[in-house]
Amino acid sequence: MRYGSIINGQERNEKQRETLEVRNPFNQEKVAELALATQSDLEDAVNNSFDTFHSTMKVMHAHQRSDILRKAADLLEGKVEEFAQTIVKEAGKPIKYSRDEIKRSIQVLRFSSELAKNITGEVIPMDAAIGGENRMGLVTRKPLGVVGAITPFNFPLNLSLHKIAPAIAAGNTIVFKPAENTPISAYLLVKLFQEAGLPKGVLNLLMGTGKVGEPLVTHKKVHKITFTGSLPVGRKIRESAGFKKVTLELGSNSPNILFEDADIESAVKDLVKGAFAFSGQVCISAQRVYVHKSIYDSFLEKYIKETESLTIGNPEKEETDIGPMINEDEAMRAKQWIDDAVEKGAKIEIGGERNGTVLSPTIMTNVDHNMKIIAEEVFAPIVSVIPFETEDEVVNYSNDSIYGLQAGVFTKDIDRAMRVANQLEMGGVWINEISTYRQDNHPYGGVKQSGIGKEGVKYAIEDMTEIKFIGVKLNPNH
Ligand code: SIN
Repeated sequence: MRYGSIINGQERNEKQRETLEVRNPFNQEKVAELALATQSDLEDAVNNSFDTFHSTMKVMHAHQRSDILRKAADLLEGKVEEFAQTIVKEAGKPIKYSRDEIKRSIQVLRFSSELAKNITGEVIPMDAAIGGENRMGLVTRKPLGVVGAITPFNFPLNLSLHKIAPAIAAGNTIVFKPAENTPISAYLLVKLFQEAGLPKGVLNLLMGTGKVGEPLVTHKKVHKITFTGSLPVGRKIRESAGFKKVTLELGSNSPNILFEDADIESAVKDLVKGAFAFSGQVCISAQRVYVHKSIYDSFLEKYIKETESLTIGNPEKEETDIGPMINEDEAMRAKQWIDDAVEKGAKIEIGGERNGTVLSPTIMTNVDHNMKIIAEEVFAPIVSVIPFETEDEVVNYSNDSIYGLQAGVFTKDIDRAMRVANQLEMGGVWINEISTYRQDNHPYGGVKQSGIGKEGVKYAIEDMTEIKFIGVKLNPNH
């Protein structure tokens, strides 16, 4: 199957176009061919989105936007298997995790549908200021215009919807540039919105690599860029976006802290999933596990045992826990980071083997903060277990990072939990839950170099609207 860009409802898929192959990361079978967008497609997409914003979205009512989003959720409910199987093939995500992603996507659509009807403002008490008597101040929220959405391969549907659905709820139009490895789910999503009644031109799709993403970021008619991906690309976007608003969801090396009173049995189970789900290719994957030294040996033994029980293999199979990484270069890069750590004195407790794109789930010990597997985002099935003695020490370890996205703290002592949560330099902290847990309605976004702005439908809508003040001077004599 060949997939092309979709601009103003029309697919651009002519034979003479330059193409890119999409291959199944597990068995390298060709699953699709992409007809790449050109510079002139980009111009057309942005101009059409700009015009559609003025002609269509500005006059579309909140209840109409809400209905389209609800309809899209209903339609997706009937297509869970089609979308899940697509994600298995294009991303190599194990089927059980792919289904979870679609179920979350349905919720994102439903939250967006509800919130489309609840974008409110406020009335300012103007007479609070001397001289402000007989005036009325209204704070309203307006859509921005054209939103450029650049999305990653790891949650190709849900992270796209975290941008597209709030943008529609708020009344914007979107130019959508999905990851080139996972374009089929993006294509199906645009078709789904067409079926749900979204007017053409509200959601334009551009197929391609960073080559088409870059001019989108600098285009004068684009009012906001919302991006999930790597730190280097995020940094470049920040530098070239000029006065546009930007939301950047970047990397992390998420810490999880187990104090001596943690429930070890349940933490072990959760942290296996937290470190290895989708081969660790999750921004909030549990990368650093700090364990109080009094429970370190017992935790490590159980953690290794539970990891041994994971089923590695074909992501299409129901029983598979660990499938491939997105491509062989990424698997080789991750293996190189393991080797580099071992050279510096780290120990592999389990895993560390690469077979093509599949890297076995790997637990490392004897690590330090100068190793890449600790200091940088591994984005691979590699977790390090590190002992600590005091609360201050573990807070310092956790904060010793350029990143700060999400963390997990495990203890039965609520005072300690809250103290530590308040001290951690993170966008979010979970207590007695892994850093990897995300619900689609809580604010999500990092501090430091983990990003700028927040997602989580309500918060994304805030970032996709502009406050507009309207003041009225009343005539007291009338
Ligand atoms: C991410 O990888 O940034 C998203 C994680 C999630 O939505 O669960």
